[in-house]
Amino acid sequence: MITEKTLFAQHVEKGLSAPSKFLSSMYFYDKKGEALFREIMNLEEYYLTNSEMEILMFQGHEIAQLLKDEEVEIIELGAGDGIKTKELLRHFDKKNTVYRPIDISEQAIIDISKKMSEWIPNLQVKGVCGDYFKMLDQLKSDAKKVILFLGSNLGNMSDDQAKGFIHQLNNVMQKGDQLMLGLDLIKSKDIVLPAYSDSKGITAEFNLNLLDRINKELGGNFDRTQFEHVATYSEHEGIAKSYIKSKVDQTVTIEENEKSYHFKKDELIHTEISRKYDLDIIRNIIEGTSLHLDYQFTDNKQYFTDLVLTKK
Ligand SMILES: C[S@@+](CC[C@H](N)C(=O)[O-])C[C@H]1O[C@@H](n2cnc3c(N)ncnc32)[C@H](O)[C@@H]1O
Repeated sequence: MITEKTLFAQHVEKGLSAPSKFLSSMYFYDKKGEALFREIMNLEEYYLTNSEMEILMFQGHEIAQLLKDEEVEIIELGAGDGIKTKELLRHFDKKNTVYRPIDISEQAIIDISKKMSEWIPNLQVKGVCGDYFKMLDQLKSDAKKVILFLGSNLGNMSDDQAKGFIHQLNNVMQKGDQLMLGLDLIKSKDIVLPAYSDSKGITAEFNLNLLDRINKELGGNFDRTQFEHVATYSEHEGIAKSYIKSKVDQTVTIEENEKSYHFKKDELIHTEISRKYDLDIIRNIIEGTSLHLDYQFTDNKQYFTDLVLTKK
């Protein structure tokens, strides 16, 4: 059986051997990365959390009315800490609702399972730790499903990957099942860029933690001080990207891969994409599925949107 460690090592080998180096943002979330992301969510500059929180706090009741049924299974992909989700779940009938958070971070699943049961007593919480890309087939069931994909998690995929993923979701959904997508909207650089390069340096720490994780789990010898965090945003495309830049010419060895990797001065490792959306982009992504965009909710500043789509 292939272990998580082997998969991580194979991914690092592929990413660091590529002509344009890359590492997946999926690997940000070890225990430290998870804690750092919670700090990011509390940053003034990280407007995404507050904007979606505002939608769920003030319009959660209305949204829940659209999603409710006699019995409903609410599956949340990449659930994280669930603080926003509780503002929606508190409007559901506890007896007939099962909440299934899925997250690749074991710590996130332990914490959310405990906290959600405290925040909303009697809600049935059945958390699962795993990679949602590999778990979609397990979501098939006869119960009415509501799939939550919040926090603009979809934006961590290219448009082609997002299209493939939404088509896969469409295939496991039955008529009447619903998908709620939380998406960051295209807006100006002065608002977006600080969310990915904050003044306290927490986003930099979060990005560079990936090198620490490789050192810890795969026996790497990255010297963190020789790399730096870089964030860019193209307002025209609506895409923010994060990179780790090598400050000098250097070679790093990873024991698990029995291999050394060379980095030129100023060479970039692409680590994250954060796509911003408008309705045309979303229509293109859902084209060819039987998902129908039924409702759109936004915050007061129109920074963020939560969309409700129904399988017809
Ligand atoms: C940006 S956070 C968002 C958390 C939450 N949805 C929110 O809106 O605040 C991304 C979450 O997705 C999880 N995650 C990332 N890639 C994943 C994957 N492939 N499978 C399962 N969980 C994943 C991370 O562990 C993290 O908790």
